[in-house]
Amino acid sequence: MTALPLPAEPADPTEADALVLFGVTGDLARKKLFPAVYHLAERGDLAPERPIVGVASSVWTTDELRSRARESLDEHHVAVDEEVFARLAASMSYVQGDYRSPATYEQLAVVLGEAQLPLVYLAVPPELFDDVVQGLRGVRLNERARIVVEKPFGRDLRSARELSACLADAFPEERIYRIDHYLGKESVENLLVFRFGNSLLEPVWNRNYVHSVQVTLAETFGVEGRGRFYETVGALRDVVQNHALQVVTLLAMEPPAAADADALLDERAKVMKAMRPLDPAKVERGQYLDYRHEEGVDPASPVETFVAMQLEIDSWRWAGVPFLVRAGKRLAATVTECVVTFKAPPRLLFSHDGQAQPSANKLVFRLGGDEGVTLQLQAKAPGDDLVTRSVDLDVSFDRALGPRQEAYERLLFDAIEGDRRRFSRVDVVDAAWRVVQPVLDRPPPLHFYEPGTWGPQEADELAAPLGGWHDPPPLSDAAT
Ligand code: BG6
Repeated sequence: MTALPLPAEPADPTEADALVLFGVTGDLARKKLFPAVYHLAERGDLAPERPIVGVASSVWTTDELRSRARESLDEHHVAVDEEVFARLAASMSYVQGDYRSPATYEQLAVVLGEAQLPLVYLAVPPELFDDVVQGLRGVRLNERARIVVEKPFGRDLRSARELSACLADAFPEERIYRIDHYLGKESVENLLVFRFGNSLLEPVWNRNYVHSVQVTLAETFGVEGRGRFYETVGALRDVVQNHALQVVTLLAMEPPAAADADALLDERAKVMKAMRPLDPAKVERGQYLDYRHEEGVDPASPVETFVAMQLEIDSWRWAGVPFLVRAGKRLAATVTECVVTFKAPPRLLFSHDGQAQPSANKLVFRLGGDEGVTLQLQAKAPGDDLVTRSVDLDVSFDRALGPRQEAYERLLFDAIEGDRRRFSRVDVVDAAWRVVQPVLDRPPPLHFYEPGTWGPQEADELAAPLGGWHDPPPLSDAAT
């Protein structure tokens, strides 16, 4: 039998041929984007001839942009290869202008010249999205550019829909890349691989075997100079509506029918839509003592720095299984983890009185810090009696898998390549706002908590009927 000839590979028409960073003088660029761009260049994934254009209102020169990029790499202890950096610096240029002025966009269009598919990254506050989108439209860049926007995508269901309408008016959905950096983390993506790459999990991954699921996003630090911004969001909007719900989605979604972006996003959308809007009676809000003294914070601020909740997913797989989610600042540990608790066996038949109750098995995914997986099983405790003791089967990904890529590096690369699998989609964002909207409309009372604890006692009471929270140990210095 002769093999059919394969068609010649066409040149990839989907790769962006210019990178435009709006808000290049800001924090996001300094903390995340310059290191990500450098690493892509170092790996050879950013063609040296591809222009990188920074846009902002500060009166900077291109040389100042280059120095800022260099400073950012030094601040992040990047081992810089001078040749790579020199090529990168040579491809940079700076456009200074007001985001509301058409002249800024005319100048940008001139600098972009022949670029057919620029990637335009909006590292600017969401209030400016509309101005930038209108400006791009004024020079018809919306007809060929891809646009990257960062969360927060709105501040409630209504404003999120307005923002979606503003973007959709200028760009088709396939060219809108919504970044939730959690989706770029290898440890978070591992939830998918672990679930769908290990067939032993599938038979037990449902309401017949799972007792409850917990997701914790905890940080020991406070708002760290971001008080003014944090006052406009609070924990629910800052990390739950996006990061935590995306994590729940990956834990709970059905296997996608294919590996393409839409198949994956369809499943994520389905499970997000199956989440019941939160019941404010099953939500606890907290604020750490001292928050009101932080710079930029209202001395009578009603904003929560901690939130805990019980979520329900009305799907065939999950109906009746409680999903407990908590997130907060100034807590006892910096840790991101998911704990799947399985139903306990009925009783330990071979114990001396037949009454001993073995503990339930737990599967713990550590998504931040010392990333890895722990499976908590029961084994016979040493001694005469047939009593159980919990033992851990534990894998540290650092040791087992070695270094992994940083989220922004992956996401920037994907956006350049036109791969939407790790981004969010308008219907997913909409469904997530629908879940949290009742709490925004009817916020439950605020309880204060001591910094360095696991939040207010009311959060413990919420979880108590389900066996309480699984409090992870503080990370060792080596793991942070
Ligand atoms: C950001 C929030 O989106 O996520 C921050 O605005 C939070 O408040 C951060 O600290 C947590 O991200 P990571 O990757 O450090 O877990």
